Amino acid sequence: MGKVVVTGGTGYIGSHTIVDLLEHDFEVVSIDNCSRSEPQIIDRIEEITGQKIINHQIDLCDLAATKKVFDSLDNVIGVIHFAAFKTVPESVEKPLLYFHNNLVSLINVLKCIEQNDIPNFVFSSSCSVYGNVEQLPVTEKTPFGKAECPYARTKQMGEEMIRDFAVANPHSTNILLRYFNPVGAHDSALIGELQRANPNNLVPVITQTAAGIIEQMKVFGKDYDTRDGTCIRDYIHVMDIANAHTKALQYSIDGKNKTNCEVFNLGTGKGVTVLEAINSFEKVSREKLNYIMTDRRPGDIEAIYANNDYAKQELGWSPDRDINIMMDTAWRWELGLKERPI
Ligand code: WQD
Repeated sequence: MGKVVVTGGTGYIGSHTIVDLLEHDFEVVSIDNCSRSEPQIIDRIEEITGQKIINHQIDLCDLAATKKVFDSLDNVIGVIHFAAFKTVPESVEKPLLYFHNNLVSLINVLKCIEQNDIPNFVFSSSCSVYGNVEQLPVTEKTPFGKAECPYARTKQMGEEMIRDFAVANPHSTNILLRYFNPVGAHDSALIGELQRANPNNLVPVITQTAAGIIEQMKVFGKDYDTRDGTCIRDYIHVMDIANAHTKALQYSIDGKNKTNCEVFNLGTGKGVTVLEAINSFEKVSREKLNYIMTDRRPGDIEAIYANNDYAKQELGWSPDRDINIMMDTAWRWELGLKERPI
């Protein structure tokens, strides 16, 4: 079948995607400097799948080190590029760190793909490229909006760079996957979203509040023009996101792509409000969450959710895990961290 190089393989979505790739008989090699993750995740992947994989712990911003890894591999049929920083407030505080890390790593990976004639490339993009959208649900034809932060801008710039790369490399196939809000964890509770102190994202804040790590959580804004006044997001289970990568790679290997640079929205197509997410968590965990309603968080958009028809139709992908499963697996992952810290 050939090897698949996964960058960011010890990260949240990268690790779950490696599990799905291995379960679909792909051979996987990971490249991750573990600056935002833990090397032990590789052992957890082996515990889940029974398969040992190698992680090359090098910095993708170091071209020589990156080339050395790619040149050491034979029969690489694809690259899935997750490695990037993705914390919105940090990107506002340190834009140059984000532009350097997220764009130089992408350029170096594309250089190695070009030099080694690797035919298939899948890029981790984000719904944040749409900015504050008027028209919902969002389709792949919805144009880029104003990026709400430097992180989102690195995703917009990354996509544009890949479009130009695709024109210059007509024999390459490039697939851009725009995630909505990935949440939850693998059913084994052995891997999940590792957000250390002061998480920003809703679901880790919920589980850390229920676990007593956070005293009281805040719901940012109750005066939005939505059914209960709180923001709407398209939360999607990380294993459904993972499976979309396996399906996108196979779609590309099978030559089913219409052009050599294609975009897919990865969302459930359903919007869920913050309070609905909290209610789901309380129901599945039987824990009462300590939260207060506070002012809006700057930069938040009111509502966004996907039209995912194209990915379902073209990739044969169907996200079938609902918000209750997302909350249940996230909670069991949090409880598991207490038993077996990473
Ligand atoms: C969701 C909702 C908050 C925390 C994230 C990533 C972004 C992109 C998309 C990768 C919002 C509310 C949150 C809290 C709250 N992912 N909230 N209290 O902002 O949609 O963006 O997913 O590309 O990079 O940041 O997700 O989980 O931060 O917030 O009320 O303590 O939950 O206001 O309405 P967001 P989020």
